[in-house]
Amino acid sequence: ETRRISVPELTAYKGQKKIAALTAYSAPIARLLDPHLDMILVGDSTAMVGYGMPDTLAITPAMMTAHAKAVVDSTRRVCVVVDMPFGSYQESPERAFRQAAGMMAGSGVQAVKIEGTATLAPTTRFMVERGIPVLAHVGLMPQYMNVMGGFKAQGFNEEVAERIVQDAIAHQDAGAFAVVLEGITEALGRRITETLSIPTIGIGASPACDGQILVTEDILGLSGPRIPKFAKQYADIGAAISNAVAQYASEVREGSFPGLEHCFGVKKG
Ligand code: KIV
Ligand code: NA
Repeated sequence: ETRRISVPELTAYKGQKKIAALTAYSAPIARLLDPHLDMILVGDSTAMVGYGMPDTLAITPAMMTAHAKAVVDSTRRVCVVVDMPFGSYQESPERAFRQAAGMMAGSGVQAVKIEGTATLAPTTRFMVERGIPVLAHVGLMPQYMNVMGGFKAQGFNEEVAERIVQDAIAHQDAGAFAVVLEGITEALGRRITETLSIPTIGIGASPACDGQILVTEDILGLSGPRIPKFAKQYADIGAAISNAVAQYASEVREGSFPGLEHCFGVKKG
């Protein structure tokens, strides 16, 4: 019987081995990822990838909890982390704790992720000291797109870069077990990784990061013809699905599916 990789084990990877992580929102994908990864994030990117919403703002704690439960129930090895959705944690540490505790109890995930500058570090501390491991997310933060003016890579300007370094340090000092660095320059990703004693997990950050994460649909050809610059397509499952469905539809239309072998009450031979 295998045991799940724990949150402290992931932190201890720093300087030892890279953290390989991807997103999953559903049982079939999570089951396929489990043997190969250290961590699965049930990302609020499912708002866009899974529901076709224009951004991540409208997904709810109940929706995220349902996806997280599907992922936990269909995995045995990986550490599973869920994204807290927009509006569920920014207001106060107390409200964040209550929402996170409900999401953990409802799904069985081991940790939550929150996006935020140093302003949110007291929330990280409040949750960690009360039993909820926190993965912090700094740099490009999709939940803040309306303040930032879209999804733009960060850290080209030294003032902004320095602020992002301070954001990462603040969450580390508040007890975060690792930090996701999204959409920042290579130099800044490297600098934060060298500065922190906890692992950095990059998405469009730097190969120097202590781990990497991507949206699974982006690497499998399931998120449309255009993928972000930081993603790499490893397979074209989208094309495989298209071909299979086209063949099924044409067999239905020409009457070659179902065959007698798919029917009940028909004797063989
Ligand atoms: O929602 C998400 O998928 C994320 C990333 C870090 C991949 O937050
Ligand atoms: Na997210």
